[in-house]
Formats: sequence, structure tokens, C-alpha cells
Amino acid sequence: MSAELWNSAVNVLDANWSTDHMVPSRRLYPHQWSWDAAFIAIGLAYVNPGRAWRDLRSLFEAQWPDGRVPHIVFDPSVPEGDYFPGPAFWDVPAYAARPARGSTSLVQPPMHAIAAWEVYRRSTSHGAACAQQATEELAWLYPRLVRQQEYLTRRRDAGGGGLASVVHPWESGVDNSPAWDAAMSRVPADLDLLRRFRRRDLEVADAAHRPTDLDYARYVHLVVSYKERGYSDHELAARHDFVVECPGFNSILGAAEVALSKIAKVVGADPSVHQARARAITTAIVDRLWDEQTQTFRARDVRTNTLSPARCVTGLLPLILPGLPSEHVEAILTEARSPRFGLPGETMLPVPSYDRTAPDFDPLRYWRGPVWINVNWLLRRGLARHGFPDEAEELRTSMLRLVHGSGHYEYFHPNTGEGIGAAQFSWTAALTLDLLADKSVRAYAAAG
Ligand code: GLC
Repeated sequence: MSAELWNSAVNVLDANWSTDHMVPSRRLYPHQWSWDAAFIAIGLAYVNPGRAWRDLRSLFEAQWPDGRVPHIVFDPSVPEGDYFPGPAFWDVPAYAARPARGSTSLVQPPMHAIAAWEVYRRSTSHGAACAQQATEELAWLYPRLVRQQEYLTRRRDAGGGGLASVVHPWESGVDNSPAWDAAMSRVPADLDLLRRFRRRDLEVADAAHRPTDLDYARYVHLVVSYKERGYSDHELAARHDFVVECPGFNSILGAAEVALSKIAKVVGADPSVHQARARAITTAIVDRLWDEQTQTFRARDVRTNTLSPARCVTGLLPLILPGLPSEHVEAILTEARSPRFGLPGETMLPVPSYDRTAPDFDPLRYWRGPVWINVNWLLRRGLARHGFPDEAEELRTSMLRLVHGSGHYEYFHPNTGEGIGAAQFSWTAALTLDLLADKSVRAYAAAG
């Protein structure tokens, strides 16, 4: 299956390249997305490292002066009507040398330091010129990656406990996750907003797979109220309607510091500050997001100071932190092997996005049940790092079997494996390349 799968993944990435960036999907997501660019670069590095660097560079060229890296960078050649909420809705002012309406104001999980390090690692097998370019690109990215981390750990530490808060479910990357239900139920839902701003996703995707209108009205409200305050993060906890600490987002934030410590050594900076920050973030995740009673990691609503009752795949992601204490590693393994997530040993499928045994588990609606490749890729990395090579390998082969059987879909039915959402989805294709190439759990664990 390898050659056929490899070629089909390369074809997806060829088809989704647009001048200086990759689109996640031509129809559903016609601009550049932040954490998509990171996952994409990791796989693209095998076949076209120049494009992998270009994609990361395009994204960071749109970094705001305060350090935030926008969750969408808009392609000015795409008509406003092709995506909602588009550039006019966000109405972001001009900044640095960039014209107005160039991006959104939200962020996504900071996967980019991890991606930059992975692209750099792969570059050594592409010859001297490529290795030279990789070192230069790392040097260009390093200060920008540091500013991204500083924005998140300083301006977004609304809870004051050393973690970054998300101010919109879209920032988590797991947009429609049940992890947000409790906090979202307190956000005003004005359906009139949807009459003013028409959804576009329902024209290109099945309504049963997408968020409901009520959810969407709340999504729009959160952006409108953030916009009214000039997208300022001042006094977020008191003034914003949704302020939540996500275990997935913060695990990536911590793992980014680990990657930055490796990058720092290459570019001649001090790795120890990043190692210290990684340790501090890991400690804060355990202090603030660990639920002793259920032995799981949960999202914390900063406004109510409560943990979400939902058991979501993001609760497994602290496993990517090398410094996670062993008792928490064991607890994550127990949860991942349980019928709630059922590592492939039991189900033959990668883990779903939400607890299979929950009454509101929904196999079709996105992030409320379906299988996603990117979070499974992260989980595999965590398994490899913490010394579970058999599970890591099982997860790798189950992902490849799934994509081979169903295609490079955005997500997959958690019982049948059927592809759902956008076909020809870039991060599925890119991470498939990585999973095909990276067979060695041992090498992954050592170099990772
Ligand atoms: C969806 C996903 C998000 C992703 C975006 C583009 O909104 O929830 O994680 O970045 O699509 O692929």
C-alpha cells in the first residue's frame, strides 16, 4: 500500500498549494490556517522542504506586532463570499507592512516550533544546500516563535496560573468539542446575528456534520464582542464571555518550548530558558487541569473556575510533554485504552475525538466523535516518547490503514472508518507522509 498511499498524499499536497501557502481544502477552507500549516510542513518536508518553509514563513509574515499568529491568513485573491467569516467580518486593521483585513484576530495551538524542528530534522537527508536553507529558516523563525510563545504565556494568561486561555472555541483547533459546551452555554446566543452574517459552511458541507445554528450564533457573538474591544486581551477574564484553558492547547504550548530549546542550540541562543518554561507549563497543566476524581485532564473555565465534565481527546494530549510525571502518563494510558477511547488494540481504529461511551457521542458531527489524524499523530508521538512503542506502532498502522481505505479525508466515522468532511484534506495527506516515512519509534523517541 505504501507507494500508492504516498503518491496519493503527494497529489493532494500538489493540488492544494497556492502560490506561497497550502490551503487545508480547496472548497471548504480556501485560505491559510495556522496549525494546519504546521502539520502540513511536517509531512511536506519529505517531498518539498522549500514549500514547507515557505508555508511557515508566509504564516509568520502575518504575525501581529503583539506576537499573536493569526488563525487564518486571508488570501486576497479569494472572493469574500467564498468563506464565512471572511476578511470583512473580522475587519482587522492594517499592521506592520500588511494591509487591513489580512487575517483573523484569533490564534490556534502553537504547533509551529514543533513543526519547524521536524522540518529541520528532515532537511539533513536532502543535501547540503537544503540543510543550509534549513538553518537559515530556523534562524528567521526563532525570534518569531519566541514572540508567539510570549504573547500566549503573558497576554493570554487570563487565569493567572501560567497557562494560556483560549477566547473562542476556534482557537483550540478542536472547534466544536464538547469540552466547550458548559462554558459556551453561558455565552449569549443571538440567532439574529446569523441573519446579519450568513453561514457559508452549510453550502459546502453536510449540516449534520457541522455546528448547529445556536453554536454558530455564539461563535459570531464572541468575535463581535472581541472586535468591539479592538481585539484587546486586557482584562479578559472580567470582560470576555469565553475564557478557557484547554489541555490540548497548553500541552502544545509546553511541547513548543521543548522544540524551541532544540532550535535555540542550532541558532546559538540559550536553550535553558525554554527548558525552564516547558517545565513550568507542564507543572501548571497538572496543577490546573488535572481532575483527581476521574484521573483525567479537563478544560478549565476561567470565569467560573470549574473543570469541564466532558472527557475529550484533548485530555490525552499532555502525553506529548516529556516532563509529564509518570503517574499522569499511566493515567492517560488507562484512559486511552479504556472503552471510552479504545486504542487500536481494541477497535483497530485510531482514537475518536470524544468519549465513545458518552450519551452525546456523535459519530458525524465534527470534534464530537469522529477520528482526526492530527490529534492521533500527537498521541502517537506521546506514546513513543514515554516508552510505549507497541501502542505507538499500532496507532501508526491504524492511521495508515484508515487513510488508505478511506482517502485523505478531514475526519473519519469512528465506527465504520468512512471518510467525512472535506476530501483531499491537506494535513491528513501530509501526516500520512510522515507516518509512512517514520517507521522507527525508537528514532522518534530519541530525536523527537
Ligand atoms: C476546522 C478545524 C480546525 C482547522 C480548520 C482548517 O475549523 O476544526 O482545527 O484548523 O478546520 O482545516
